[in-house]
Amino acid sequence: MKEKAVQILKQYSQEHILKYLPYLTQEEQDNLESQILRINFEELKKIYEFTKCKPLMQEKLIEHIEYTDKSKLSKERKEELEQIGREIICSGKYAVITMAGGQGSRLGHQGPKGTYELNTKNGKKYIFEIIIDTLKKAQKEYNITIPWYVMTSNENHEDTIKFLEEHNYFEYDKSEIKFFKQGELPLLNTEGKVIIDKDKKIKEAADGNGGIYEAIARSGVLEDLKSKDIEWIFISNVDNILSNFVDPLLVGLTIEQNQKIAGKSVAKTNPKEKVGVFCKMNGSPKIIEYIDLPEKMAEQRDENGELLYGEVNIANYLFHRSVFENLADIKLPYHAAFKKSAYLNEDGKYIEPEEPNVYKFETFIFDAFTRYDNMTILRVKREDEFAPVKNKEGNDSPETAVALYNAKNT
Ligand code: UD1
Repeated sequence: MKEKAVQILKQYSQEHILKYLPYLTQEEQDNLESQILRINFEELKKIYEFTKCKPLMQEKLIEHIEYTDKSKLSKERKEELEQIGREIICSGKYAVITMAGGQGSRLGHQGPKGTYELNTKNGKKYIFEIIIDTLKKAQKEYNITIPWYVMTSNENHEDTIKFLEEHNYFEYDKSEIKFFKQGELPLLNTEGKVIIDKDKKIKEAADGNGGIYEAIARSGVLEDLKSKDIEWIFISNVDNILSNFVDPLLVGLTIEQNQKIAGKSVAKTNPKEKVGVFCKMNGSPKIIEYIDLPEKMAEQRDENGELLYGEVNIANYLFHRSVFENLADIKLPYHAAFKKSAYLNEDGKYIEPEEPNVYKFETFIFDAFTRYDNMTILRVKREDEFAPVKNKEGNDSPETAVALYNAKNT
């Protein structure tokens, strides 16, 4: 291994990697070396230090956030707003991005989450197929083919493309579909050391859906959006099979409220529901994940008995293109998750730990919202728009999602 790579390992206390070299072929050593030269160890060191201090949730700076309840809008008002949105969609100024770079480990499915097959009343359908069904429906309704961008990660990029190719993109116009890869970061063990994977490389994983800002700018998607004169971009998770992502009402409301970012919410069912909620922090819009929301606040209610922090983030976001232009270089805070990850030990033995052993670092798409003074929030009905497939069984499982999908698709 060249001196430069060795120096980096020494400088960042990662010399344990040198112990693997005797087991590696020349090609494996070369791959490892180029990986070492690519990884930003300085940044990684800072991120690791951060795991030792849990950020304090300053309660007094968190407030309830205003939202518009779709069910309380009059028919005329809805029609008025939808008309504004329809004009944007029909004139080709609207695109959809699906964030599909995650591992979907909770579902226990081998392969990208979008390739998971569900048994619906309309027959067996893959998650990607359901997304394309929605795009095809919009194509008929608005007489336009909406561009679809899919964010993948190193782990699932090839498999995602192969799957959609094999299924002929479920008959959607292939020229309007683009894939772009997000970045990744090494996993670190409790001593802050990188680990080696089966393929003899430093083990890395997708750096969270907040990687989307950098990925959009770097991959050419932003240029593509500009050249197509697309103004509004809807972004959602891959896992919500009721996602209503071509929604003129949301577009119209956001434009009318003069905002650049919007999100949809549903009412939280109970204080313990494991979801993120919208709020305002230090005067700016913010989503707090359930893990970070103090119990006392999760239980607080307003004068009507509604949960004060009860607007569940269903991960349906609308962005004006200027947001991506402004935030292309944004540095978002890292959230560390403690996870189980198999690795090769220094004797070349593959270890599959029973307990969590590494930190995985992720940034979140919504942490960028604090850069804006306000955003539009549209509360919709859960049974209409939120049926996520996250867990193998129980809540938010294929079973619960399909039941909601079937009820909606009567
Ligand atoms: C997410 C939201 C949560 C919301 C819930 C609603 C985040 C961090 N949290 O939770 O506030 O209430 O949805 O269903 O978004 N992804 C990538 N790259 C990554 C990691 C994730 O593209 O590196 C994608 C996943 O494929 C998925 C989406 O981001 O489509 C969200 O995944 P995940 O981070 O697991 O968040 P959730 O727990 O689903």
